[in-house]
Amino acid sequence: MSLGKKVTLNTGVEIPQLGYGTWQSSPGEVSVGVFEALKAGYRHLDLAMIYGNQPEVAEGLKKAFAEIPGLKREDIFITSKLWNSQHDPKGVEAALDSCLAELELEYLDLYLVHFPVSFKTGDELFPLIAGSNEPDGDVEINDSISIVDTWRAMTKLPKSKARAVGVSNHTVEHLDALIKGTGVVPAADQVERHPLLQSKELVAYCKEKNIHITAYSAFGNNMIGVPLLVNRPEVKEIAEKVSKRIGSTATPAQVILAWSQVGGHSVIPKSVKTSRIIENFKEIELVPEEIEAIDALGKVPQRFNIPVIANKPRWNINIFGDEAEKNAPHKVII
Ligand SMILES: NC(=O)c1ccc[n+]([C@@H]2O[C@H](COP(=O)([O-])OP(=O)(O)OC[C@H]3O[C@@H](n4cnc5c(N)ncnc54)[C@H](OP(=O)(O)O)[C@@H]3O)[C@@H](O)[C@H]2O)c1
Repeated sequence: MSLGKKVTLNTGVEIPQLGYGTWQSSPGEVSVGVFEALKAGYRHLDLAMIYGNQPEVAEGLKKAFAEIPGLKREDIFITSKLWNSQHDPKGVEAALDSCLAELELEYLDLYLVHFPVSFKTGDELFPLIAGSNEPDGDVEINDSISIVDTWRAMTKLPKSKARAVGVSNHTVEHLDALIKGTGVVPAADQVERHPLLQSKELVAYCKEKNIHITAYSAFGNNMIGVPLLVNRPEVKEIAEKVSKRIGSTATPAQVILAWSQVGGHSVIPKSVKTSRIIENFKEIELVPEEIEAIDALGKVPQRFNIPVIANKPRWNINIFGDEAEKNAPHKVII
């Protein structure tokens, strides 16, 4: 069985381009999903403490090691993420330790700063500002910890526990601040990227600095009820044309995932349905005209994951410089 294409990170280690995402996978679904993904051939898992399901991911991993012949820990590239309330440099290694404990693993292949946003440090995952109530409250943003300080602590983590370190949801400005402030280039930036948000400036910057891009929400998943890209007529039409050319069915999901990997990026689709897990892992190659047809869908960039509008409780901070964030009182501290 082909286990998919790989690319090399700036640490010299290979990362499979097609990974398996685990956000919004409910209890009872994610251990099965992880097992089915590994059985289907995925060798890259995308996890995070904040997804609240890492102990269950651990169950899926244990089942996979027991039941998939020859499968070993070192065959799988595992990513997880430092949460916003864990940005205090003094607590970064302890946060990694507790992440590893949840996963019952000795090491991660990649540990990412989940967002360039620091919340009040502590055990509360979404600490509310005083006088603010759920579900419409605001999270307490900590403006005294800079992303450079957190990144410096990440770069000092023992390689025995985190083989590589990187970031997520960081813009060119944020990445530039990390590199100037510490001299250490992140191995990866995991960002929202799909045909409607192609982020050409970020892609060019990362190429120049040798920062690997992992695309999340490749199907345009969102919390605001907009139809997934796989269900849009224009994507279905491109998939039909690809199917005709290759003489077998190419689904909209496969077409989007193939597009997402052009340029050497990785992509981490999430599904808890076995048939879709298998569908998403099937590789197809696009020809230049098909890539251009998908590129053309993104003339008006659309970002879905904007915490100031999409999240409850709200994070009242300007992260991406999007129009919707312009009145937010907090900004990323570099
Ligand atoms: N770093 C970050 O801040 C961040 C943010 C968001 C996501 N992520 C990571 O990226 C992963 C992927 O992003 P995402 O979960 O937002 O969204 P996504 O992968 O773009 O889309 C997931 C949605 O697509 C559906 N789906 C999956 N395969 C399909 C197929 N072949 N046909 C039709 N529908 C399909 C899934 O439903 P079913 O499950 O019912 O199949 C689910 O509703 C996450 O799971 C997480 O690991 C990271």
